[in-house]
Amino acid sequence: MTEILNRTDHDILHAAAVLRAGKLVAFGTETVYGLGADATNALAVAAVFEAKGRPLFNPLICHYESADAAFADVLASPLAERLANTFWPGPLTLVLRRRAACPVAMLAGAGLETLAVRVPAHPVAQRLIAALGRPVAAPSANRSGGISPTTAAHVLAGLEGRIAAVIDSGPCRVGLESTVLDLSGPTPFLLRPGGVNVEALEAGIGCQLSVVSHQSEALRSPGMMLSHYAPRLPFRINATGVHPNEALLAFGPPLLGAGLVFQLSSSQNLNEAAANLFEGLHWLDQNAAARGLTAIAAMPIPTHALGRAITDRLTRAATPFDN
Ligand code: TXA
Ligand code: MG
Repeated sequence: MTEILNRTDHDILHAAAVLRAGKLVAFGTETVYGLGADATNALAVAAVFEAKGRPLFNPLICHYESADAAFADVLASPLAERLANTFWPGPLTLVLRRRAACPVAMLAGAGLETLAVRVPAHPVAQRLIAALGRPVAAPSANRSGGISPTTAAHVLAGLEGRIAAVIDSGPCRVGLESTVLDLSGPTPFLLRPGGVNVEALEAGIGCQLSVVSHQSEALRSPGMMLSHYAPRLPFRINATGVHPNEALLAFGPPLLGAGLVFQLSSSQNLNEAAANLFEGLHWLDQNAAARGLTAIAAMPIPTHALGRAITDRLTRAATPFDN
C-alpha cells in the first residue's frame, strides 16, 4: 500500500523519516513529480530503479535545498554559479564533476565522475529536502517508458504499491522536465531541452549553446557509453571458475581460488548487488594490481528484476573500448 500524504508540516516530516529509513517517496516539483530516495543511501537508490522497472541504470538527478548545498558535492565553475544565481530554484539541471568527498551513492550517478544537480522551486520539494537534510535523488515518478506524472493520481496509477508514499503536492506548474545542461567540460552542452527555455539560458551564458546531436548524444549518454563502465583491467562475465591471475566480482558464495574478492551480495539480493555494483568495479580495478592480479572475472547474475540492468552494465564493461 502506498500512503497518500498532504502538504502539512506533520506529513512532510513523516515523509522525510520514510526517506531516512531508505524507502521511496514521490513528491511534487515544479516540473513533474519525482520518485525520491535518500541520495546517500545506495540501497534506496537501487530501489528507485526497481520500482521504475528501468532496464538500465540511467543516472539520476540529485535535488538540493540550495546552490551552496549542491556545490558542496560537485565542483562549480564560475558559469555554473552564475546560472545557479539566475535560474535556481527552478527547472534547470547542471551536470558537474563530483567532489572527492561527495556523499551521494555512486549508483545515483550510474558510476560516472559527474553528477546532475538541481534546486527545485516547488515548496513541497524544498521542505522535504530541508527536512531530510540530505540530497534527494529523483527521476520522474513513472514506470519506465511511461508518461511523466504531473499529479499524485498519475503517480499512483503507475506506482501504487511499489513505493512507500506520495505527497499530494497539487498539479505541477511547468509540466515537463527540467532543462539538463552539461557544464562538466570546457564547452557547455544542452543534453535535454526542458523547463528553462534555451534562449533564456543562452542569454545567461552569453553565447549560443552546443546542442548534443543524436550521434554524439549516444556517445555522451551514459547508458550507451561502454567505456564509462569498463575497468582498465581485462574483464570477463559469467565466470564459473577463477584463473590464478584474476580478482573476483562475487554474487553469493565466492568461487574458490580468487586472490581478491568484492562481494556484490552474499545473500544474492539483486537490489543489494545493484547498490554495490559501481563501487565494486572501481574497487577491484584499483586494488587488483597491488595483489599482482591482472584481470577481473564476474560471477553470473540472474537476469530478472534489477539483474537485467546489472547484466547490461557488466556486459558493457566486458566489451572492449573500440567496439
Ligand atoms: O524535472 C526533472 O528533471 C525531473 C524532476 C523530478 O526533477 N526529473 C527527471 O529525472 O526528469 P530523469 O531521471 O527522468 O531524467 C534525468 C536526465 C536523464 O536524461 C539523464 O540521462 C540525465 O538527466 N542525467 C542525469 N545525470 C547525468 C549525468 N551525470 N550526465 C549526463 N546526463 C545525466
Ligand atoms: Mg523520466
